[in-house]
Formats: sequence, C-alpha cells, structure tokens
Amino acid sequence: MKKNRNHLPDTFPEKGNKAAKVYNAICSELAMDGDVHLDLGSFSTTKMHPYANKLITEQLGKNFIDYGEYAQSKKIHDRIVALLSGLLNVPDPHSIKGTSTLGSSEAIHLALLSHKWNWKKRQQSLQLDTTKPNIVYSSNAHVCWDKFALYFDVEPRKIAISSFHQYPLEEIIKNIDQNTICVGAIAGNTYTGSIDPIEELNNKILEINSTNNWDVGIHVDAAIGGFVLPFLKEQNLQWDFRLPLVRSINLSGHKFGLVYPGIGWLLFRDAFFLPKELIFPSHYLGKPIDTYTLNYSKGASMILAQYFSILQNGISGYKKIINRCCKTAQIIRDRLKESNYFEIIDEGQLPIVVFKLNTTNAIDLYGFQSQLRARNWMLPVYNAPGNFEPNKLMRIVVKENFDTTMVTLLCDDLIAIYQNLNHYRL
Ligand SMILES: Cc1ncc(COP(=O)(O)O)c(C=O)c1O
Repeated sequence: MKKNRNHLPDTFPEKGNKAAKVYNAICSELAMDGDVHLDLGSFSTTKMHPYANKLITEQLGKNFIDYGEYAQSKKIHDRIVALLSGLLNVPDPHSIKGTSTLGSSEAIHLALLSHKWNWKKRQQSLQLDTTKPNIVYSSNAHVCWDKFALYFDVEPRKIAISSFHQYPLEEIIKNIDQNTICVGAIAGNTYTGSIDPIEELNNKILEINSTNNWDVGIHVDAAIGGFVLPFLKEQNLQWDFRLPLVRSINLSGHKFGLVYPGIGWLLFRDAFFLPKELIFPSHYLGKPIDTYTLNYSKGASMILAQYFSILQNGISGYKKIINRCCKTAQIIRDRLKESNYFEIIDEGQLPIVVFKLNTTNAIDLYGFQSQLRARNWMLPVYNAPGNFEPNKLMRIVVKENFDTTMVTLLCDDLIAIYQNLNHYRL
C-alpha cells in the first residue's frame, strides 16, 4: 500500500490491495477513535444482540427502495409503521401513514414539508397569500429545525427560552399567525431532556385556531422521548396523537428504539395529513412504487433490525430496559449531588443526566473534560441554547449498555478528577 507518511492514501490508489491488508490498515487507523460504548454524550445505540448483528450483516446488500423485489421487507416496514402508530395512539388504525427515514432530521424535514403543503393548500382555498410561511418553535430545538427553515424557505420564529425549565408558552402563542405552517414541540430536548408542556400547548392553539379561523397543528419531535415515554412506569403526560392537534411525530429508532445509527420514523396522525402531491411514483426498478422520503436508495438492514428489536423485547422488554436506564440515571444524579461538586440540571424525566460543575470552585471545564477523556469517557461540554446561566453543561445519556460497574467507575472518576483539579488549583 502506497504510504503517505503517517496516513492511508488520500488519492485514489492506482492499484488495489489484498483485502486483509486493507482491513488491518483501516482498523489500525480506527483504533485512534474513541470507544463507542464510552461515548456518553451520544444518544445512539451502540450494541445489539448477536442475532441482530447476524440479521443486519445478512441483509446488508438489500436496497430497501426496490419494493418490487424486496416486497417482504416493505411489508415488515409497514408493520412497524402500524405498530408504532398504535403505540402513539393514532385515532384511526385504518388510516395510518408513516415512513422510515435515515434519522429524526429527515423525519422532521418530511413532516414539516407536509405541514407547509397543507398550509399552502388551505391558504389557496381561502385566496390568501402563500409567500410568507413561518414556523414557530423554541430555541432549545435541535439544529435540524433551523435547517428545515433555511432549506425549505420558511421563516423561523425561534422563541428564546429564558431558563432551562421554563417553556415560553405565551411567546410561542403570540408568534402564531395566519402564515404559521405548524408549531414545534419537543418530547425530550437535546440539551436537558425536558419535555415541553404539549397538552397545554395543544389547548392554547385550539383556542386561537377557533378564534381566528386558523388551522395550525403541532409536530412533536420525539427523537429522544418517543421510545421512552410509552414505556415509563409513571407517566401521566399527554403528548402523542391523543391530543387532537398533534398531526405528526418523529422518533429515532437509533436512540432509545435500540437500533444502531441509521433509522428514524415519521408517523402521521392520519393519512389525510400527508398530501398526495408529495408522494412520488416511480418505476425505474421494474415495478411502480410510491415514495415519500428525501433519499431514494437506502439499506433495508436497519429497518429489519428495528423489527428485530421490537420482537425481541416486546413492550415488557422495552419497559424493563427503559426503567432500568431511568433508575441508573437516578443513581448517578444522587452520587453527583451528594459529592457537592456538581449541580444537576435535568428534571429527571428521561434517562439523561445533565449537570454543571459547582462554580464555588473555579475548575476549568475543558481541563475536566480532557481528564475524563484520558480515562476514555467521552462527555460533551455544550452551551445553553440562549443567554442565561448555567451556560455550559455536560451530559450523560444512560443507555442499555450501562451496568453497575460502569456507573461506579464513572462516578468515582468524575469525583476524583474534580478533586484532583481542585487540589492543583489551590
Ligand atoms: C431532540 C432531537 N431532535 C432531532 C434530532 C436529530 O436526530 P437524528 O440525529 O436522528 O437526525 C436529535 C438528535 O440528537 C435530537 O436530540
């Protein structure tokens, strides 16, 4: 293999190489990456059952879009859409619509496009302006909401949150008008895992819709909470299709859906909310197919892996795993709080521990992070989504792979590193 001093080639090599040699060289380079199981900031699943791995490997070459040839994979896909719609309480099981996506970002973009389209059709029918669509959401939304606004030419009305636990309901409502395609609500935000008061939002929008003859609906971003909330022991929140204005929901199969990265889901309240004009027929692959996705080709294996996870765990298995993760998160919170070195920021609704360093001691946060990294733990340091304190946070996503040994080691390390840095500062 032609050497580029320290690296593998960065130009297309003239000649090929033996597979084993290529494999070993790439693995050597990848050994410098972090260990996925210790990437505590990431929400994505890092481990599945060996039978899931076998299924994924065997199905790797299958292009899901070729429904004609892989009709059975499509049937499994549609079964997943149906059972997830049931899980999220669609009102009419005979009128379900949804699709798999590469993740929640694609699902959100597709959902918001359908809201935009429905808004436009209604405006046209009322002979109103269709040139200034806007979308209203809070500033703790994931970046994919901003991307949608930019890519699809919709004015983002991004309402600043003034503290982590205060949803700006009044401001959100004030910003809705005739040109609002929909309002975004988050069931588990990326910063703290908090869940927006979706029922209250639904009720307020019902009122203003009726006063103004508007038809504004809600899209719920349940990338994080979608596979958690239905399985929690104590959960009295109303956030899904039971609320009449919730018209679409996205979930990330690759987060608490317990599948490797590359799978998200978009579900509509009713087939009615997916405009027919957005569904594209094509026939290049021999048989006519209809699609509503941004990408055309994609592997079938993560869809099949989602089915595996659902069948392997069932509702009782998901409940067991999710509630165990929540319990583990609480153990971590308690230990961190007890030490007095950390302040817990999250509200404890999801298996996510968000914290800041206690500011009575001026510990360098990035020094703290790099000492954790030296112990192989990967924890992100990130900014608050606005101009308020605390402005720097750290996050631990408690996933299925977290066992008691890992919890003890992690908490011991967090405390020891803090003490160490504090000692040298004095
Ligand atoms: C709340 C929320 N929405 C959307 C996304 C985007 O999801 P994906 O990475 O599956 O595209 C994320 C990612 O973490 C998220 O936390």
